[in-house]
Amino acid sequence: MKAAIYTRFGPPEVLALHQVPKPEPREDEVLIQVRAMTVTSAECAMRRGEPLWGRIILGLRRPRKRMRTLGTELAGRVEAVGAKVTRFRPGDEVFGFTGFRLGANAEYVCLAQRASLELKPVNLGFEEAAAAVDGASTALYFLRKAGLRAGHRVLVYGASGSIGTYAVQLAKHFGAHVTAVCGPRNADLVAELGADEVIDYTKEDYSRSGARYDIVFDTLGKSSFAQARTVLTRQGRYAPTTGLGNTFLSLGTSLSRGRKVVTGMSVDKNDSLALLKGLIEAEQLRVVIDRRYPFDQLAEAHRYVETGHKRGNVVITID
Ligand SMILES: NC(=O)c1ccc[n+]([C@@H]2O[C@H](COP(=O)([O-])OP(=O)(O)OC[C@H]3O[C@@H](n4cnc5c(N)ncnc54)[C@H](OP(=O)(O)O)[C@@H]3O)[C@@H](O)[C@H]2O)c1
Repeated sequence: MKAAIYTRFGPPEVLALHQVPKPEPREDEVLIQVRAMTVTSAECAMRRGEPLWGRIILGLRRPRKRMRTLGTELAGRVEAVGAKVTRFRPGDEVFGFTGFRLGANAEYVCLAQRASLELKPVNLGFEEAAAAVDGASTALYFLRKAGLRAGHRVLVYGASGSIGTYAVQLAKHFGAHVTAVCGPRNADLVAELGADEVIDYTKEDYSRSGARYDIVFDTLGKSSFAQARTVLTRQGRYAPTTGLGNTFLSLGTSLSRGRKVVTGMSVDKNDSLALLKGLIEAEQLRVVIDRRYPFDQLAEAHRYVETGHKRGNVVITID
């Protein structure tokens, strides 16, 4: 089978397609024929070997052997199952997340049946299903962790990205009043997704708006607690998806009574995938796809995602 492999950290050109042996499922694993996968900002950073502290996991000087095929989100068809698998059968169409083992940039991948894997929403094709995994489940994870309730006022910073487009829709679905922060090009998109108010980050600093929010969800980690706290209610939560400094702030603020920083990693997505599948099938959640690329243009897709200006998701398709 074909798999994208990189043997050194660097620009998109370090990715190359190679022929490698097709994996065989263990007794509790399913073998999935991958039909679509995505390229995320997080994977572009891994390819570059950033942030530097991330190399403790990725490999210090070069990518660890077992992490040389990137890719976390996928959709495809179950081709074979191990002897102890009861959740899936050959022929099932699934969508899922490989987590720290990566490996979705390949024609086939094995995942444990208890991994972040679920039957694909019936109303989505493979491309949309692959793009309905990480952004959506990460948005759900942080909104829950920040204690989202109906009636809350939520500000989504970076509302036009993968996590952001889902955060706007999910916060709205759970009854919040949503203010979306995005660039002028994406104002119409986030309004269509349900945002009640839109702030253009190129013209206005949300932290000077004078408004009050229960949650500032910083999907990009490009804002800061210092900015967010000026608009948070006394019990408000600032939820950044990234940034080592924010992890220390979350430890510090967890001891205080007031505004808190909420951080974490959305890794185990099994429960959230079932919920998201239900919302998608009920047409309560839309998948935004910006561009699609064939597998042999994976590097090109990385180059585009790396600009930091994709809308929603970028998908790779395998015929
Ligand atoms: N903690 C976790 O479990 C977890 C899980 C997944 C991902 N992450 C992290 O989440 C981060 C981003 O995720 P993502 O994939 O959603 O991002 P993304 O899709 O790459 O974000 C792209 C969007 O960001 C907008 N943008 C860029 N600069 C902006 C700014 N200053 N203000 C407002 N919007 C801006 C762009 O709009 P314009 O074109 O208008 O600029 C574009 O639409 C990554 O750092 C990733 O590592 C964390």
